[in-house]
Amino acid sequence: SDTLRLGIAGLGTVGVGVLRIIRQQAALLEARTGRKISVSAVSARTRDRDRGVSLKGYDWEDDPVTLATRDDVDVFVELMGGSDGPAKAATEAALKAGKHVVTANKAMLAIHGQALAELAEAQGLSLRYEAAVAGGIPVVKTLLEGLAGNGITRVMGVMNGSCNYILTRMESAGQTYQDIFAEADALGYLEADPQLDVGGIDAAHKLAILSSIAFGAQVDFHGIQLEGIERVTIEDIRAAADMGYKIKLLGVAQKTGRGLEQRMQPCLVPDSSPLGQLDGGTNMVVLEGDAVGQIVLRGAGAGEGPTASAVMADVCDIARGVWLPVFGQPATTLVQAKSAQSKTP
Ligand code: HSE
Repeated sequence: SDTLRLGIAGLGTVGVGVLRIIRQQAALLEARTGRKISVSAVSARTRDRDRGVSLKGYDWEDDPVTLATRDDVDVFVELMGGSDGPAKAATEAALKAGKHVVTANKAMLAIHGQALAELAEAQGLSLRYEAAVAGGIPVVKTLLEGLAGNGITRVMGVMNGSCNYILTRMESAGQTYQDIFAEADALGYLEADPQLDVGGIDAAHKLAILSSIAFGAQVDFHGIQLEGIERVTIEDIRAAADMGYKIKLLGVAQKTGRGLEQRMQPCLVPDSSPLGQLDGGTNMVVLEGDAVGQIVLRGAGAGEGPTASAVMADVCDIARGVWLPVFGQPATTLVQAKSAQSKTP
């Protein structure tokens, strides 16, 4: 049809941001895609919460699976989160019912990405996830499209704003990890389960996804050498500063002679480097291609506007009829990664 009809499950920060953009930018979106974008129905855990945006005009569904498979839904937009449970059930149901899917769910993709990609591709459906990695930074699109002519030699970056905030504040305030953790929590900067942030898990989910696109390997979250920031002390940060370094929770994926090396751990980076200058809750992804050289992308890795911006980029691609293999090449051709652990932590 002329109109692209969405069903949106999950009305937290990101879902609300998506509704706002669809309302406020209707004319712009239609001009850019040649189609009207509408919302047929929404679902969320609680209906009657004041979200600062009206839900009038959208049908309500209690069950995300029912929402995902409605006849008047062309694209299921999954913004619930969680690697399993309703998010996965509804995503599978949507794909089986012939609906495209746009998701912000890094945990689901890091664990079940391979199976979901095969399911989508078998039917020629889009499964898009720009919002799952580094929020507003269009890194997935950059790898899938902008760098399609490159062999990727390395992907690295700071992909969890909460951890970067904590490490930056420990240094500037001269306070302990425990104090700044409590501050970040009080400010609402941490996930409902903070271990996802400070344990490096959220960032590792993102790295697993990027690594798959970059190296044609099956998503392999469990192959990542993982260490969070809980054991970084103020003394570590001071000692690093004395030598001209910062400590960052850095993700690195690269091919070595021994296989695919994927690690997410606190690292020393030079003060003067782009990564060393990344303060506060921001994200940075550094991509290296054999033809292009190095590209540095920097921006907001979370938040209503930035994450909704990424969701809408995927929705607009689907409206325009742009189809891409989920991880840049047919999922059936992705190889099992032989994981190489780096010797020194
Ligand atoms: N807590 C995450 C972060 C949110 O700070 O990056 C986005 O995944």
